[in-house]
Order: sequence, then C-alpha cells, then structure tokens
Amino acid sequence: MTGFVKIKNGSYRNQTITNEVFPLVKQFQLGSKGGFITVDGTGRFGKDKIRVTIASPTEYELVDATEYTGEVATQNEHNEQSDEERIADIAMRFEMLDTMTKAALNGDIRALIVSGPPGVGKSFTVEHQIERANLFQQVANVKPKHEVVKGSASAIGLYKKLYEYSDEGSVLVLDDVDSILFDEVSLNLLKGALDSGKNRKINWLLESRILKNEDIPNSFNFKGAVIFLTNLKFDQVKSSKLKDHLEALQSRCHYLDLTLDTQRDKILRIKQIAKDGALFEDLGIGSIGQEIIIDFMDANKNKLRELSLRMAIKIGQLYKSFPNNWEAMAKTTCMKSGS
Ligand SMILES: Nc1ncnc2c1ncn2[C@@H]1O[C@H](COP(=O)(O)OP(=O)(O)OP(=O)(O)O)[C@@H](O)[C@H]1O
Ligand SMILES: [Mg+2]
Repeated sequence: MTGFVKIKNGSYRNQTITNEVFPLVKQFQLGSKGGFITVDGTGRFGKDKIRVTIASPTEYELVDATEYTGEVATQNEHNEQSDEERIADIAMRFEMLDTMTKAALNGDIRALIVSGPPGVGKSFTVEHQIERANLFQQVANVKPKHEVVKGSASAIGLYKKLYEYSDEGSVLVLDDVDSILFDEVSLNLLKGALDSGKNRKINWLLESRILKNEDIPNSFNFKGAVIFLTNLKFDQVKSSKLKDHLEALQSRCHYLDLTLDTQRDKILRIKQIAKDGALFEDLGIGSIGQEIIIDFMDANKNKLRELSLRMAIKIGQLYKSFPNNWEAMAKTTCMKSGS
C-alpha cells in the first residue's frame, strides 16, 4: 500500500463509487477496456486489490491517511513504513506529478498546484514532460504552446503570459513564482485562471498602455492549463489572510503535496533517485562512491544547509573534483555555519 486516494467518480462491478477514500495499491493504468486504478477494497467490498474503473486520472486525488475511516489490510503510518515502502510511496507521488503534467498537456487537467521542499525534483519532473511535448511540436513545425516561467512576475507580466497561453491545449508553468501569492492583483488573476468552472474570464481592470501597444485585450477567456510549483505548504500557512486566499486556490484545482516533510523522507528521495542510477549519471560516480556520499549526507543530515537532490549533486561534484579533500570542502561549503 502506498497512500490513500479519494475516487471522485468511478465504478466497481456495476456499483458506483462517488467521493470515497480507499488505500491505493496501484495508480491509474489504461487497460484494454479503459482506465482503472487498483485499490484495497477490504473495508467496502470485503476484497483487497480491486480494480475500480475510472475515466481518467483526474477522477481521483491523493488524500491524507486521516481521511480514511475503513478497514485496511496493512495500514501503516509513514514512520512505521519500512524504507522500501516509503520509497515506493515517494516514487508514486512523483509518478503522479508526471501523470498529471501529461494530463495537463493533453488538456484533461486545467489547473494543478504542486507543493514540495526545495531541490527534490519538482521542476525536473514537470520540465521533462514539457520538453517532450515541445519536441513533438517542433518536429511537427508547430509553435510550442508550453512555457515555464521562473522566479518572479509582475501582475501585468502574469496577465500577458496568461493571454499568450490562453488557447485550449496551452500550458503555462509558474515555477517558484510565489510573489504572485503576495500580490492582490496577481492573486486574483491566478484565481481566475485556475477556476475549475467552464468560463474562465480574466480581466485587467486598469488602463494600460503596455497592453494597448501590444494589442492585448483588457479581458479574455482562459482555456489553457496552469501548473503552479511552490515550496509553500498551503495547509500550513499561518497568516490568516493568505490562508483564505490559498484555500480558495486549493478548492479550485488539483493540489499535489509531495509530502517530503521529514529528514528521513528527504534522504529516501535521494536514495530513490540514486537507486535508479540517475543521480550521479552525469558525474560518472559509480555505486560505491554513491553510497559513500549518501552515507556522508545521512551522518550529517542535521548540519547540511539543505537535504535535497541538489545538495547531493553539489557534494558529488566535490567528491569528483577533490577526491582527497571532498569531505572538508563539503563541510565548509555545504553546512550551516557553526556546525
Ligand atoms: N528524477 C531525477 N533524476 C535525476 N536528477 C534529478 C531528478 N529529479 C531532479 N533531479 C536533479 O535534482 C536537482 C533539483 O531538482 P529540481 O530543480 O527539479 O528541484 P525543485 O524541487 O524544483 O527545487 P526548487 O523548489 O528549489 O525549485 C536538479 O539538479 C535536477 O537535475
Ligand atoms: Mg524548481
């Protein structure tokens, strides 16, 4: 078992399932008769591993274990899970990010918010799919309809980008553009774009020479998709004003929390990518070196400024360039001062 899902709309042996929570066994697959996901149906149908028919991955979402009230064959809290189980759980969440990015590119999902700590692979996963899609379109000689905007955007900058990607099938990725959340005008534009309703009209209420000069109308219908990547955990924000806004955003779209909250989880994410052989591929560090570096990170997890894939790669570079001195270098450059 690797988590819990709420099935919004599905069926099992002619019985309808609406907004019910199940332990997930295996996520969405396409079979010869259509799409399905495999869940533990012990609590509801007295049978584990059942295939619930659903039309698309948008018909279910990952939910917290607390939302499940039924019986489970093998219920575990995160910290009781073995490392292997937890790694499978983490991998599943990133697969879900991959699947949902594809769904956005196919036009099946209109809005997705992804939250997770720095350096764990949010941008990498989304960009990988976007690049693939862009490649196909370039081959077909079509202008790419996807773009990743990073860092910051002014309100009018955001309006222009939304306009540029307003056609059906377009995807705008806002990567670490948290400034939007702290600006009333931008926030309202984002709310308009993420709204799950059919009609997503976006307005620019002020007189603007910039828009006039560029022939951009003061209002338009947004038919594209938006993926918003952030380090902010929406449900843990303290400021009540921001909290209200974030709740409004969350209720409008899919929200995927990658849940790498503990140091153990972060080390396991590093181990997961290392196990796939992808972590130090570019550096040409073999399995022994890989193990030495991860053990070093594990032993110093409280001292490192960040526990992430990014940090693992940084330390890998030192290991490669300074084989005799890399630990001292890593201590000086990667650890918090005073440690
Ligand atoms: N699946 C993967 N395989 C190999 N390398 C990866 C993978 N995912 C991420 N990385 C590498 O890990 C580093 C951090 O990834 P990325 O920039 O995607 O993190 P992030 O979660 O977007 O962080 P931030 O919140 O700071 O933007 C990058 O150097 C990236 O190349
Ligand atoms: Mg990123």
